[in-house]
Amino acid sequence: MIQESSLRRLGAVCACAALIGSAASAAPQTAADAVNPQNWPQAHSRGLVNAATEARIDQLLARLSLEEKVGQIIQTDIGAIVPEDLRRYPLGSILAGGGSGPNGDERAPANAWLRWSRMLRAVSLEPRPGHTPVPLLFGIDAVHGHNNVFGAVIYPHNIGLGAAHDPELVRRIGAATAAAVAATGIDWTFAPTLAVPQDVRWGRSYEGFAQDPTLVREYARAAVEGLQGPPELAGKVQSGKVAATAKHFVGDGGTADGVDQGDTQVAENELIRLHAQGYVSAIDAGVLTVMASYSSWRGQKMHGNRQLLTDVLKGRMGFEGFVIGDWDGHAQLPGCRSDRCPQAINAGVDMFMAPYHWKELYDNTLAAARSGEIPASRLNDAVRRILRVKFRLGLFETARPYEGRMELLNSSENRSLAREAVRRSLVLLKNGGALPIRASARVLVTGPGADSIPMQCGGWCVTWQGNDTSNADFPGAQSVGAAIKQAVESGGGRVVDDSDLSGENRPDVAVVVYGEQPYAETHGDLQFALFNVGEPLTQLKRLQRAGIPTVSVFLSGRPLWLRPQLDASDAFVAAWLPGTEGGGIADVLIGDAAGRPRHDFSGRLSFDWPNGSYPTGTTRAGEVRGDSWPAGFGLRYAPRAQ
Ligand code: BGC
Ligand code: BGC
Repeated sequence: MIQESSLRRLGAVCACAALIGSAASAAPQTAADAVNPQNWPQAHSRGLVNAATEARIDQLLARLSLEEKVGQIIQTDIGAIVPEDLRRYPLGSILAGGGSGPNGDERAPANAWLRWSRMLRAVSLEPRPGHTPVPLLFGIDAVHGHNNVFGAVIYPHNIGLGAAHDPELVRRIGAATAAAVAATGIDWTFAPTLAVPQDVRWGRSYEGFAQDPTLVREYARAAVEGLQGPPELAGKVQSGKVAATAKHFVGDGGTADGVDQGDTQVAENELIRLHAQGYVSAIDAGVLTVMASYSSWRGQKMHGNRQLLTDVLKGRMGFEGFVIGDWDGHAQLPGCRSDRCPQAINAGVDMFMAPYHWKELYDNTLAAARSGEIPASRLNDAVRRILRVKFRLGLFETARPYEGRMELLNSSENRSLAREAVRRSLVLLKNGGALPIRASARVLVTGPGADSIPMQCGGWCVTWQGNDTSNADFPGAQSVGAAIKQAVESGGGRVVDDSDLSGENRPDVAVVVYGEQPYAETHGDLQFALFNVGEPLTQLKRLQRAGIPTVSVFLSGRPLWLRPQLDASDAFVAAWLPGTEGGGIADVLIGDAAGRPRHDFSGRLSFDWPNGSYPTGTTRAGEVRGDSWPAGFGLRYAPRAQ
C-alpha cells in the first residue's frame, strides 16, 4: 500500500501534469487580464439568423412587456417551481438538474417527464389577459444518453468516446440521444462538454473527450450535428432534434491543479490554442447555446467576463445563439448573490440558471431593467437570442411527433449502438497472452465492478453523483460479469467462483473488474491521480500466486497511476465509464470457443496514462512523463496495419 508520506513526496517531486498536475503553479492573479479579440479564431453561427425569423422576432419583441422580457432570461429548476408559478412569473425556461425529477422523483417513469414538460409548456402558451404566449424551453443534462431518465440506455462517458477516435460514432450517439430527449418533451441538452482537461485530478475529466484540442474540435462538430441536425437542415424537435450546449466557456479544463470551478491561469494564446478550439467548430455547426463556465480566467470569473463572453464569443467568434449561465454560477461574481446579479447579464450571460431564490432574482432583475442598470438594448438582445433559439427549434409549432415515443429511450437499436460504442472505447494497455479468452474456458469474474451498473455508469446517471443507485435503477442494463457469463456459456465454457483455485473448478483465467466509485463535478477532484484501493490488488496477487492468468478491467473516469495493479495483471483493459451495455466488453474479451477474437480492440488513449515505476525522491520532473503510455497508444490482437 502506498503510504501518505510517499504521496506527499510524489506531490513534491513529480511534475507530470497527467499524474499530479503542476503542484507549483503560479499564484492566482486577482486583476482581470486584457483580452485581444483579434487574436481569437473567427467562426460563423450557421443556420441561426435569417430575415424571415428575425422579422417574426421583431414582432414578438414589440408585444412583450418588460416583465415578460425579464421572465425570458430566467430559468429555474423543476424542483423549485410548480406550473402555477408560471402565471405570476413568466419564465422563459426550465431545467431538470442532475438531482431533479418530476414530482421530486429522480426515478419517475418516462411518461411522468412528458406529463411535466407538457404541463409547464401549456401554462406558458395559455391565452390569458396581459400574457403573450411564448413556449417554454426545457433543458436537461443528457450528457451520455438521456441519463437522468429511469430506464434509458446509457452510452460511455465522453472520455471513452474520445478513445474511439471516431466522430461518426459521436454523431450517431448525438442523434439517438436527441430523439430520446424529444420523446420526453424536452427541447435542450446541456451537452457536449468541450473541456480539454489538462490535469486529470479534475473531477470532470471524464466529461472531456481528450487532452488534445484537435480531437475535441473534430468531435464538437459531430456532437452538435448529431443532436441538432446539420445546420442547413435546421433540425427541430419535429424531427427529433434538440438544442445542444457547448460548455463550459471557456477554460474549464485548464484550472490550476485540476480544481473544479478553479482558476485557469494560462496566457491568452494558450487559452485560445487549448481551450477554445471546440467552440470554433461548434459555432460553425450552428450550436444554439453556450454555457458560461464556473471557472475563472486569470482571477476573473467567466460569468462576469464581458470581454470573453461578449467581445470574443459573440463578437469575434460570431455566436448568434444565447449564453446560459451555469447552476447558480452568477452568485459567484463579486457583488452578486443568487437573487441579484445584473453584472452577469451585462457581461453577456443571456439567461440565468437560477435554481435558488429565482422569484427574488426575477424581482431584482426587473428593477435593474427598469432603472436602466441593465440597458434596454442588452435585455432586448438577450431576449432576441432566446427567441431565435425557440423559433429555430420549432417550439412555436404545435406538432411534436416525437413526444411519447418512449421506445427511443431503450430500443434494441440504441442498445446495440451503445454496445458498439463500448467495444470501440476499450483500450488494451497490456496483454501477455491472457486475452482473448476462449469461450469454452472456465472463467472467474470477480472484483467490486463485476456486477455494478453504478460503477459502469459513473456520475450523471439517474442521479447527479450516481453513487446512490443500485442495479435495480437500470432495468435492461447488463453488467460486465453478466455479459461475460453469457458469452462464455454460449461458447461451451462456464463461469466459476474463486472457492477452488486448484481443483476441477480451477479457473483457466480470471477477470477482475474494479475502479473508481461514481462521482460528479467537485466531488471527483483528487489531490493525487493514483488508484489506491487495496482489495483488487490483493485479489490479483492471490490469483497470480495460484498461477491463474489475470485480466484487469478498469472502470474509471480518467487515467490513474496504478503500477502495482498493472504488475499483478497479465492483461489490462481501460474500460472508462461504459454505461449500461457491459456486453461490449465481453464482445472483445471473449473470443470464440477456439479462442479466436470475435472483435479486436480498436480504442486508443485520448489522454496520457502514467505507467512508470513509483517515483523516488530523486526523480526529476520529465522522467515521469516519459514513463507513460502516450495519448494514441492502444494494443490490438492483430498487428496494426502499417
Ligand atoms: C454543471 C453543468 C450542468 C448544470 C445543470 C452544473 O453544476 O456545471 O455542467 O449543466 O449543473 O445540471
Ligand atoms: C444539481 C446539479 C447541479 C449541482 C450543483 C445539484 O443538486 O442537480 O445539476 O450541478 O447541484 O451544485
